Order: sequence, then C-alpha cells, then structure tokens
Amino acid sequence: MTDQPNAAQIDYWNDKAGETWAALQALLDRQIAPLGEAAMAALAPAKGERILDVGCGCGDTTLALARAVGGDGAVLGLDISRPMLEVARDRLAEAGLTQAQVAEADAQAADLGGNWDGVYSRFGVMFFADPDAAFANLAAALKPGGRLAFVCWRTLAENPWMGIGLKAALEHVPPPPPADPLAPGPFGFTDPDRVSGILSRAGFADIAIRPHDEKIGGHSLEDALTVSRRVGPAALLMRENPDKREAIDASLRRLLAADDKGGVWFDSATWIVTATKP
Ligand SMILES: C[S@@+](CC[C@H](N)C(=O)[O-])C[C@H]1O[C@@H](n2cnc3c(N)ncnc32)[C@H](O)[C@@H]1O
Repeated sequence: MTDQPNAAQIDYWNDKAGETWAALQALLDRQIAPLGEAAMAALAPAKGERILDVGCGCGDTTLALARAVGGDGAVLGLDISRPMLEVARDRLAEAGLTQAQVAEADAQAADLGGNWDGVYSRFGVMFFADPDAAFANLAAALKPGGRLAFVCWRTLAENPWMGIGLKAALEHVPPPPPADPLAPGPFGFTDPDRVSGILSRAGFADIAIRPHDEKIGGHSLEDALTVSRRVGPAALLMRENPDKREAIDASLRRLLAADDKGGVWFDSATWIVTATKP
C-alpha cells in the first residue's frame, strides 16, 4: 500500500476486483448499461463538448460519451485500475474514436485543468476516501455553468442483483459485521442527504437527486451465476469461507433460477444525481 489518498482503493481495484471487472466486462456492461444511460440522458452531452468520465473502468461509457460529443469534442476517462484501463484502451483503439482517451489518475487528487463542460460517472464516485476533496476537485475541473451527472446505488436491500448473493451466503455462514455506511464502497452514497451535503460543500448548485427504478440483467442463468459468483457479497463470502463455497453456490443457483423468466431479471434502485457549477 502507498501513502496516496486512496491507497486502499487503488490496491483493491488493481487486485482481484479490477481483474474481475476486466474479465466480466461484457456481462457487467450489459447489466448496468441502462442505468448509465439514464445518467447520460441527464447530462445531455452535446456535440463538441469536453466531458470527464470519472471511474471509467473498462470504457463503456467513455465510448458512449465520445459518440455523443463527436469528433469536435473530447472525452477523458479517469481510473485508478490498470487492468480495467487496459480493456478500455483496447476498446477505444478498436472503435477508432480519437476524441476519447483514458488516463490512470485518482479523480480526487489529479490536476484535471479547468476547462470541462461536463463530469459524468456510472458508479465510479462512491469510492473516494475524502468525498469532499474529490468533488471539490471535480467542481474545479468544470467551467462556470458546467454540468455534473452520475448514477449511484441506493441500498443493498433494494438491489437484489447484489443482495441475492448475500441471501445465498447467509444460508451457510453467519452474517458479516454491519458495513460502515460512510466507508468508500458501492453503497457509500445511499443517503441522499449525505450526497447533497458533499455536493453543496464542493460548491455545486442546482443539486437534484432523483430515484431511478429499472429492471436490469436479462442474462442466462449461467451468465447470472458467473456474475454473482465473482462480484458482490457472495463472491466475498465464498472467498472467506472456502469450505462453504459449494453450498453457497448451490443456494445461489436455486435463488437465481427462481428469478429466471426467460433471462434473470432484477429490480434495481439508483439515484440519478445532477448539479451545476455556478
Ligand atoms: C464499480 S466500478 C464502475 C466502472 C465503470 N464506470 C462502469 O460503469 O463499468 C468503479 C470504478 O471506479 C474506479 N475508481 C475508484 N476510485 C477512483 C478514484 N479515486 N479515481 C478514479 N477512479 C476510481 C474503480 O477503479 C472502478 O473502475
């Protein structure tokens, strides 16, 4: 671990988590694409604009933003995960969209200049050790009148695609200690008052936090199992309890099969957050 501000997350996303997201890129993109599209509609990127994609991961939304801003615009995807950035670079090269680039950079600390029209993120802004500092940095990157739009998760209980893994695991192992709701992680922004406070302290105005509910997934049972085995609570508890792995896996298969209605579909619950820089 280094003494960088987000050292723990940098380690995390350059180890198993980053490798898993890189390996499952197509399945995960399919699962969360509609939610990213809802945030992109809220951002409404226009031709010729310059947009930052925060926590761009494997580049799915960087590509979509690049298409939206066209050849006269510019998109910069920022991420701390080398395995995911490698996938993003390959995809950008393959698409030949020269207006888009990705960079290995911590969005909390990197000097991002001050000339961006928009800051966008699909589930990439809940991992900062110091969210106040991170959003102040993102606000500083925007021109006056610049727009922010991102999507983040509401609670685990409202998001069964992750909750189902916990349910399967709890049939075989004791519950893990309750998570710190303020710790960096996927559910760090479930409280809209917390998000609103962070954004207003960072200097944003016109803050809107709107619930968005949509069915996601549609994977075959085997693909849904692949995702649940490797991402979220079941993956973690299987790693921590290798002797229970097969039993958790069998429960997971049973629970996912019950949701298989010509594809495994889940409810999802997110916040679509928008704001502007005055
Ligand atoms: C849940 S993944 C989402 C990835 C991508 N946006 C997507 O929707 O497929 C979260 C991403 O945020 C990135 N991330 C976490 N902390 C970051 C930071 N401080 N600066 C830049 N990226 C960060 C992670 O490396 C990871 O790629």
